[in-house]
Amino acid sequence: MSENHTGHGRFSGRVAVVTGASRGIGLAVAERLVAEGARVCLTARKAGPLEEAAATLPPGSVITVAGKADDPGHRREVFDTVAGEFGGLDVLVNNAGINPAYGPVVGLDLDVARKVLEVNVLATLAWVQDAVAHPELGFTERRGTVVNLSSVTGDTPSPGIGLYGVSKAAVSHLTRTLAVELGPEIRVNAVAPAVVKTRFAEALYEGRETEVAADYPLRRLGAPSDIASAVVFLASEDSSWVTGRVLTVDGGLTVAGGTA
Ligand SMILES: NC(=O)c1ccc[n+]([C@@H]2O[C@H](COP(=O)([O-])OP(=O)(O)OC[C@H]3O[C@@H](n4cnc5c(N)ncnc54)[C@H](OP(=O)(O)O)[C@@H]3O)[C@@H](O)[C@H]2O)c1
Repeated sequence: MSENHTGHGRFSGRVAVVTGASRGIGLAVAERLVAEGARVCLTARKAGPLEEAAATLPPGSVITVAGKADDPGHRREVFDTVAGEFGGLDVLVNNAGINPAYGPVVGLDLDVARKVLEVNVLATLAWVQDAVAHPELGFTERRGTVVNLSSVTGDTPSPGIGLYGVSKAAVSHLTRTLAVELGPEIRVNAVAPAVVKTRFAEALYEGRETEVAADYPLRRLGAPSDIASAVVFLASEDSSWVTGRVLTVDGGLTVAGGTA
């Protein structure tokens, strides 16, 4: 691995969009892409934290566009800006995801369920549709790669976050479906983490991290950098014969029979 966006890393001369990149996994992915030579457009809803995140990265390596992942106008602005500033697109990381509900799915407000599916599933599809259709990005010609953020909860139901798991099961199958449709030019893969220490997952481990980590053969929860390593592998030429796969990155949790 090396260097910076002026160097000779795996992503030298490449352009990436990472959604939900103001903190957590998305920011870690952006950091790795930039460290390996990419120029990256970071998105998130709140402009302030997004600017603060961008300021931690080398000048000239990133741009930001604030907005909601499920807003068509925001996606248009992102891709128009990327085309104008960077001249094309090589990597799309669909990282933005939400989980606003806790409790059994049988009691779930359907409007909340719809929102989860809108952001986690339909927006993931829409970012790919819009990237492929954009006249100036050259995403297909440049043999683009897509990496989606799924979850181990998409395979095995986790108590309390059932609808979120349903949405991530859909992300995994969407990944497989898009890979079949978009080959041979575009590769589409996903990463499925167990619990990673971010704001998003705090409620799952706060105050009992050692106890939760005891279920993991590697005896620790994930760090954003653990997931970023897998994402950049799938986005890079190092995985050039891999498409339609969901790579579980979970410290061994699921092989030991655990659930997130
Ligand atoms: N952490 C885990 O344990 C874990 C496990 C499995 C999968 N995942 C998946 O990994 C992805 C990233 O999660 P994370 O843990 O890194 O979360 P996080 O630390 O809470 O970060 C979420 C990022 O997404 C942005 N965001 C949230 N909703 C958005 C929306 N509707 N439109 C655009 N941006 C939005 C947030 O910024 P704003 O609030 O400003 O929008 C922030 O930048 C998600 O898809 C999640 O489902 C996480």
